[in-house]
Amino acid sequence: MPQLTNGILIAIEGIDGSGKSTLAYNLSTTLQEQNYDTLLTKEPGACDLGKEIREIIQIQNIAITPRAEYLLFAADRAQHFAEIIIPALTQKKLIISDRMADSSIAYQGYGNGLDFNMIHMINQWTMHSIVPHITIFVRVPVSIALDRAKNRGPLSAYEKREAFLQNVAAGFEDMYKNRTDVIIIDGTQPEKTIVSQTSTIITQWIHKKLH
Ligand code: TYD
Repeated sequence: MPQLTNGILIAIEGIDGSGKSTLAYNLSTTLQEQNYDTLLTKEPGACDLGKEIREIIQIQNIAITPRAEYLLFAADRAQHFAEIIIPALTQKKLIISDRMADSSIAYQGYGNGLDFNMIHMINQWTMHSIVPHITIFVRVPVSIALDRAKNRGPLSAYEKREAFLQNVAAGFEDMYKNRTDVIIIDGTQPEKTIVSQTSTIITQWIHKKLH
């Protein structure tokens, strides 16, 4: 097994329907096959509290203001870090998270217009100032993402709002335009290509870090 000297945290980001969950799954399987001690996780909803929060956010039968909604995502994040991420880093695992803090910047900041500094500050606090080593951004045009999401059954409240998703997508682009820790992947490519591209980049990054 490739022995990591430290845990590695990888976040996968993208809009709804970008294929990031499929990539997260395929990537964790591929890296596991290469004998990495891999953990696949997600935000929101990896831990029990998060599952309850996810229900509250998605059922949409109670009023939630944008600030309250953000704080629910933040509560999920705080629990996720305490219960899953920090212990897994201590165990030197290779962690792949389907969404993380940048989703709040994109959805609640760029999408809902909440204050960026406040989101950033609370995110940092919930994450004990830990930041992902690598972020993979799966880039797809909103029109393609919406088409894919439609094929998956009833549209969630977010997916119905194309204009909102356009702002979120533009937000990801803006956030990532000068970041050296972000790998941008063309999400319109075949699934196999995407996973092999991404796993190669990650394993190369790990080898560079180890040697
Ligand atoms: P996700 O679980 O990725 O979607 P899916 O139901 O397709 O698996 O995310 C659920 C929704 O939550 C998604 O529309 C993005 C949104 N979200 C935020 O708005 N802010 C956040 O901080 C996170 C983590 C997710």
